[in-house]
Amino acid sequence: MISGTTKIAVLLSHPSTHLQTPPRFNERCVERGIDMVLVPWDVAPADLTDAWQGLRQIQNLAGVVVTIPHKETVAGLCDTLATEAAAMGVCNVARRFPGGKFLGEMYDGRGFVAGLLKSGHRLKDKTVLLLGAGGAATGIAHALAQAGVSELRIANRTRAKAVILVAAVAARFPALTVTASDPDVAGVDVIINGTSVGMHAADPLPVDLSNMAKGTVVAEVIMSPDVTTLLSTAQERGAKIHKGVHMVDAQIDLLINHLLEIS
Ligand SMILES: NC(=O)c1ccc[n+]([C@@H]2O[C@H](COP(=O)([O-])OP(=O)(O)OC[C@H]3O[C@@H](n4cnc5c(N)ncnc54)[C@H](OP(=O)(O)O)[C@@H]3O)[C@@H](O)[C@H]2O)c1
Repeated sequence: MISGTTKIAVLLSHPSTHLQTPPRFNERCVERGIDMVLVPWDVAPADLTDAWQGLRQIQNLAGVVVTIPHKETVAGLCDTLATEAAAMGVCNVARRFPGGKFLGEMYDGRGFVAGLLKSGHRLKDKTVLLLGAGGAATGIAHALAQAGVSELRIANRTRAKAVILVAAVAARFPALTVTASDPDVAGVDVIINGTSVGMHAADPLPVDLSNMAKGTVVAEVIMSPDVTTLLSTAQERGAKIHKGVHMVDAQIDLLINHLLEIS
């Protein structure tokens, strides 16, 4: 029940019709007895800076959750960034302090890794092929390094972006073998689709699975469709699959805790 004491969080995105987070977030607030609600706001990129100035004035605003295409811009609009957001230059949640300042942090990667581990998959000492070098893939790359993978290969359509991401991860985790690679699944233990390829029915597979070994873990970031063509194809070829929805489920509590400064 929304009342005068309810804290508001807004989910900034453009467009907003595909969003899966609000019902999950709000259900979790009810389960935890937290008087807060998350509402989707569709804000076009050109209007984000103006909208942000308005958000600074809303006194019952706990903060914002951020998704495509605003993660990088919001990192620049925040007054301070916590560890992961500062290292990556993107954020997916920002707490509003009294007075209107914002503290941003990035939980996509931690959420993805937590979801994978919770489902019983292992990352330590594994060789991982990560497809993509955008916002989601960036968070995941740093979190995989933190989770102790032995080798990380990053393949992206725009190779220059993979090279930049590799350099950022290597600078932070010098002991890790991390390379900008071709999308080759041979010799890989875990394949992660961190691109948006697979959201639409007509999309091709984001990677050729012909050389994939049986028992490889194939994981998605895409939440809709629930089972992408990549996952169904990989499963038919003997892979263990992991859906994109686990990534959001595993980070709802992290987002709530950041907004309300619960440690
Ligand atoms: N499950 C979750 O909790 C969660 C959280 C965040 C995001 N996501 C999902 O993750 C996906 C990516 O989001 P994002 O924020 O990372 O977006 P983004 O920053 O725009 O990055 C998109 C990535 O996909 C690649 N890509 C796009 N179209 C492509 C194509 N036709 N062929 C090959 N590569 C292509 C891009 O390559 P280029 O660099 O070459 O453009 C880039 O690596 C979305 O589907 C989003 O819904 C899920």
